[in-house]
Amino acid sequence: MERDISEVLFTEEMIRERVTRLGMQLGRDYDGRTPLLLGVLKGCFVFMADLMRHIDLYCEVRFITASSYGSGTVSSGGVRLGDISQLDIEGRDVVVVEDIVDSGLTLKRLRDCLLEMRPASLRICALLDKKSRREIEVEIDYIGFECRDVFCVGYGLDCAERYRNLPYIGALRPEVYI
Ligand code: PRP
Repeated sequence: MERDISEVLFTEEMIRERVTRLGMQLGRDYDGRTPLLLGVLKGCFVFMADLMRHIDLYCEVRFITASSYGSGTVSSGGVRLGDISQLDIEGRDVVVVEDIVDSGLTLKRLRDCLLEMRPASLRICALLDKKSRREIEVEIDYIGFECRDVFCVGYGLDCAERYRNLPYIGALRPEVYI
């Protein structure tokens, strides 16, 4: 698996430090409230597990599914959202937790759907922001790292469902996915 990686972009140590800080910041920003952390599967699951352990507050966690890539490497533009009708977020302080924002299409679609459900507040926390790839503007409130336009895998991020278990985030060699 490791030989498919051309470069380590974010080491375990860098991720640990940044995620700790993000969690502490969320803890301060939501002091006195009980935020609902809403993870976007599958990519978010490692980030969510680490992030929430650094939020020193009562908080709840739920997950939804969203997928834009299928098994390929380029966004299809079509966003598939799982069933969010049972979420019951009315009046809640919702924090959407994402592993990566690329075109922004997933978040835009999700955000619009969630806002219709009238949460008290809605913020976005994303570990990686690939700004250069944005196709639609979407505001991100908490960003772990800005990221170059390379194919990132590890720490929950996949290529055709592989590499999610790498403990760091690396760039995948093009010859592996082309
Ligand atoms: C990734 C990521 C985001 C989305 C971002 O999910 O987790 O949900 O793509 O891309 P966008 O900004 O271009 O919409 P993916 O579809 O790869 O599914 P996964 O999380 O199950 O790997």
